[in-house]
Amino acid sequence: MKKQRKVKVAVLVSGGGTNLQAIIDAVAAKVIKNAEISLVISNNASAYALTRAENAGIKTAIITKKESDGSQELFEDRLIERLKNDEIELIVLAGFMSILSERFTKTFERRIINVHPSLIPSFCGKGFYGLHVHEAALAYGVKVTGATVHFVNEIPDGGEIILQKSVSVKKGETPESLQQRVMRQAEWIILPRAVELVSKEIIANRKVSK
Ligand code: GAR
Repeated sequence: MKKQRKVKVAVLVSGGGTNLQAIIDAVAAKVIKNAEISLVISNNASAYALTRAENAGIKTAIITKKESDGSQELFEDRLIERLKNDEIELIVLAGFMSILSERFTKTFERRIINVHPSLIPSFCGKGFYGLHVHEAALAYGVKVTGATVHFVNEIPDGGEIILQKSVSVKKGETPESLQQRVMRQAEWIILPRAVELVSKEIIANRKVSK
């Protein structure tokens, strides 16, 4: 059987990029076999994630709302144009701190996935991002939290769940320590796995539609 071309992935980032690094490492370790990272786009020019991409020899782009006249619509137009020009088949939001409109999510239906640092439907939706998620989980007093990878639709953190992994909350935990453990024990494991799972699905659909 003819070997299938790998799925072209774009990773969208805003910050440190440890989840991007987990995907880069998973490609190198062949945990991800059916996808390649073709492009990293940041909406923040000083994101360390850009350095991680450059170190791995991956093409980068900076597209910001500020340089799009502060307009979300124009910002998304520029993102869509770039993603289409580069023939991207799967978009991974890895610490991408901008909520995308329905117009954007409908353009790439079932082709956008996101990693969220809680067990959805807990501590998710508007306002729940980064450290705030872990602050809320500790304030509530949950004994188990974790991470979720899901498809992205028009509802923030509301798309179909792909993978989840739980993490126990320890005594004396701080939001920072919990964030680190959730990343290490959950996010960096399930995000690469989800990239591989969805990429396989995309390749299988290619064969059907031929
Ligand atoms: C990660 O914990 C990710 O789950 C979270 O931001 C962090 C980014 O870290 N994303 C959200 O909260 C999205 N709602 P990274 O830049 O080191 O991957």
